[in-house]
Amino acid sequence: LKRFAIIGHQAGPSGDFSLNDLPGSGGRIDILCRCANSSMLLSHGVREDVECYLVLAGDPEKQKTVRFSGSSIRSLSPDERSTGALIKKALSIPCGDVFRESSPGISVRQGGLKELLQEFSFAVLDEKGEDIRDTDRLPDSFLLSDSRNFTEEETGLISGLPAYSVGPEVLHADQAITVLLNEIDRRGI
Ligand SMILES: C[S@@+](CC[C@H](N)C(=O)[O-])C[C@H]1O[C@@H](n2cnc3c(N)ncnc32)[C@H](O)[C@@H]1O
Repeated sequence: LKRFAIIGHQAGPSGDFSLNDLPGSGGRIDILCRCANSSMLLSHGVREDVECYLVLAGDPEKQKTVRFSGSSIRSLSPDERSTGALIKKALSIPCGDVFRESSPGISVRQGGLKELLQEFSFAVLDEKGEDIRDTDRLPDSFLLSDSRNFTEEETGLISGLPAYSVGPEVLHADQAITVLLNEIDRRGI
């Protein structure tokens, strides 16, 4: 199983954004939609061995995490708007600190990065990290930021984690996911 977690620093937990204005009203939730789609979708199918965790960290005190599970997801389309609708639905249901399903393969819980770090051994995707092409054994869980840098608090939480680069340019988060998955595909892992 491969895992991606993306921190959405401006995206709030309430789901009261407009599907017609994902970047503005959603606090750049368009980035999270693209990351979910890049993580999960092939041209004609879904990556069944991938999970994608979107952390809605816009309100640091009330963070939520939406999980996309490739093994059970059904209706995921490549357009950002329909992915936004799935996130909106997830954020609309009451949830506690255990994942609760809002649509097939999509679940939500309270909590953010801190909780994820307690469960999985993440590596950070970072342009300054070790080149993935020079790495014999790639980790299976990767953490990314959205258009903003990690906050000071997050940087403290992740300071000891290994960091990997997919290339010399700073890419958009969804592009970095695509390049990494291409390397994983080529290695057949
Ligand atoms: C738009 S970047 C974040 C902003 C960036 N720190 C900056 O200074 O503009 C989004 C995320 O994509 C990932 N990323 C971008 N380029 C990368 C690269 N070359 N290698 C690995 N990860 C990369 C990182 O996880 C980063 O947090």
